[in-house]
Amino acid sequence: MAESLEQMPKSETIRLRERHIGQACQLFYKSNPLKIVRAEGQYMYDERGNRYLDCINNVAHVGHCHPTVVRAGQEQMALLSTNNRFLHDDLVICARRLTSLLPEPLSVCFLVNSGSEANDLALRLAQTHTKNKDIITLDHAYHGHLTSMIDISPYKFNKPNSPGKKDWVHVAPCPDVYRGKYRETDYPGEDLGVMYANDVRYICQNLKSQGKGVCAYIAESLMSVGGQILPPENYFRNVYRHVREHGGVCIADEVQVGFGRVGSHVWAFQLYGEDVVPDIVTIGKPMGNGHPVAAVITTPAIAGSFKDTGIEYFNTYGGNPVSCAIANAVMEVMERENLQENALKVGMYLMSELRKLAKRWKIIGDVRGVGLFVGIELVRDRITRIPATAEAKYVVSRMKDKKVLISSDGPDDNILKLKPPMVFTIENVNHLASVLNEVLQEVEIEVEQVILKRCSDNTSISWLLTLFLFR
Ligand SMILES: Cc1ncc(COP(=O)(O)O)c(C=O)c1O
Repeated sequence: MAESLEQMPKSETIRLRERHIGQACQLFYKSNPLKIVRAEGQYMYDERGNRYLDCINNVAHVGHCHPTVVRAGQEQMALLSTNNRFLHDDLVICARRLTSLLPEPLSVCFLVNSGSEANDLALRLAQTHTKNKDIITLDHAYHGHLTSMIDISPYKFNKPNSPGKKDWVHVAPCPDVYRGKYRETDYPGEDLGVMYANDVRYICQNLKSQGKGVCAYIAESLMSVGGQILPPENYFRNVYRHVREHGGVCIADEVQVGFGRVGSHVWAFQLYGEDVVPDIVTIGKPMGNGHPVAAVITTPAIAGSFKDTGIEYFNTYGGNPVSCAIANAVMEVMERENLQENALKVGMYLMSELRKLAKRWKIIGDVRGVGLFVGIELVRDRITRIPATAEAKYVVSRMKDKKVLISSDGPDDNILKLKPPMVFTIENVNHLASVLNEVLQEVEIEVEQVILKRCSDNTSISWLLTLFLFR
């Protein structure tokens, strides 16, 4: 067991947090939050030295505290940290490297500090280029915490006490073929990509009938917050066509899913064919391996329209030498350690192990994923697909007790999410699958007991499960 690093009793950390940190900032595992004091690779350690297998931190892309990345940051911090109004090699090297990973004509970068900032700037670019205002977003999407991003994130603005939808925001259905508007079981043999894309076309046509054009369509290339959704093959191809025909630009939010996570490609939008090329790509989280750096990459034409407004774009920290040195180190490690290839290999093995579990446990309705972006959808019944929300919460909590960190998400919070650091190994998959198997067995036993009890006193299953979960 590693040496204890605790400097303050956990109870005191909790007390100070409750007193001085905004209560809206939520903790994982609220009833017994983790105090993580150090991390390395795909492992995190609490104050007692307990080791947790990290299956959720896609930000620690090349592994927590990778020495090459840490050293790059430390060395640059000791040398110079200033803004990008001075020439600096690391800034242009970072931009050259990023754009070399993207297809033409995506060749112009803006460096920023977070995914939210990247998406906010993407909207400004789209507005100045198209001179339109109306935005199309996907149901359940999340694009950031800024006011401008809450406006286009149904995941936030649809919450009970939220401001609600602005009239210039239009929500298209999430292209979920398992439990969405069009399901593969309801439309066998039909092209669901075309069907979901048509819903975007109807929005565009409706705007046109009101004399308006589209400003932008924004979507994650794989929907993460929406529940680890893999849109059907022809979806983006058709959506991009409809949006462009109506004067809009297409923004691919790759903040969660970019940088080789999908294994077969660097960017998730590349999964859908070479002809699917966004006008603006936003990237963030993995780019700095934990350091706040993000970027917007676009075409010379769109960047040119932004320049033509005559308004300077200045961002105090965006593109500072320290952030650029770190981003360059992340890309270097990705290449040197073949981490995209690792995501492909380990991800395929992960999917095969999870499919084995799906054969054993009927609560698993669907297993889907590419590379190290994987979702396990829990349902109470495979035909009706009623979401097993309380059960998913139970699984996440019990996995944590067994020192494996996973999370749940999706509109009904019934999808187990796996997005581990890219250094995840075959042994890690074996451990994860074996612990998940144990926990799913517990769920089966508990559900049986709940049903027996329900038969005896006619109490509702979800109420009993809730009682069980919060006991
Ligand atoms: C898809 C997506 N876009 C944008 C953001 C915002 O990124 P940040 O938290 O770095 O501002 C997030 C954050 O979770 C995200 O998941």
